[in-house]
Amino acid sequence: MAPEIETRIAALRRRVADARGSGLRVGCVPTMGALHAGHTALFDHARADCDLLVATLFVNPLQFDRRDDLESYPRDMGTDLRICGRHGVHILFAPPVEEMYPRRPATYVEVEGLGSTLCGASRPGHFRGVATVVLKLLNIVQPHFACFGEKDYQQLAIIRRLVEDANMPVEIVGVPTVREEDGVALSSRNALLSAEQRDAAPILVRTLRAARNAIEANEFDARGLCRRAQDLFRRNPHVRLDYFEIVDPNTLQPVERIEHPVRIAVAAFFGPIRLIDNLAASPPKAR
Ligand code: PAF
Repeated sequence: MAPEIETRIAALRRRVADARGSGLRVGCVPTMGALHAGHTALFDHARADCDLLVATLFVNPLQFDRRDDLESYPRDMGTDLRICGRHGVHILFAPPVEEMYPRRPATYVEVEGLGSTLCGASRPGHFRGVATVVLKLLNIVQPHFACFGEKDYQQLAIIRRLVEDANMPVEIVGVPTVREEDGVALSSRNALLSAEQRDAAPILVRTLRAARNAIEANEFDARGLCRRAQDLFRRNPHVRLDYFEIVDPNTLQPVERIEHPVRIAVAAFFGPIRLIDNLAASPPKAR
């Protein structure tokens, strides 16, 4: 069944307040649209644990550091609506920009430390934009829980910290990454790759898995593992590495000696398209 569309904050709040008032459990999946199997995994996960599922669709200008990136972000409301309908979304909250930002905001959310490493280092302001809009969306929808993909691991870590620091009464649920057959993580940006760039894209998951296997075989030198991965990227002419890092899963700070569970994270450019991916890894002693 097609979801109901709400574009106004007040109307959505009334719908959710009524549902909560009748004892229903409300789940939320924030998205920027261009829905794919990664999003439907979030919908399915959320739907299994709630009575009312609200998805949000808002391409948030605050989190784009480049105008061309914002303008070329794929938008297809018709397809998104059909996908929502097939995956149990009851309400699609799709506000226009003026509803979310009636005037230039004076309040921004900065999650110190977590927002400036990894992707934050090469996308200044991006996570400030994400944290600000997620705070607004969670305040607007007021769900019992909200689901976010582990593919955007740094985003997930930042949102968890935001919710903890701001004492927000919402549970944040991380959902595992969905991959294509060749291991490439699903992303709305994959649709923008040329055939040649798409062929090169599995280098991300290959280097992540190689590092994870080494860690599971007791390799503890994080710097050495990163250097090995960087060499593989240097040899591939279709890709330009942004970073390959092994970090603490909570602080996102690089580790030197791998003695505890870590997160391995990578970002690289395929022409103008930037893709990211990550995997968890644990040394044998920590498993
Ligand atoms: O992951 C996304 O699609 C966006 O960053 C989010 C969480 C919907 C905020 O705009």
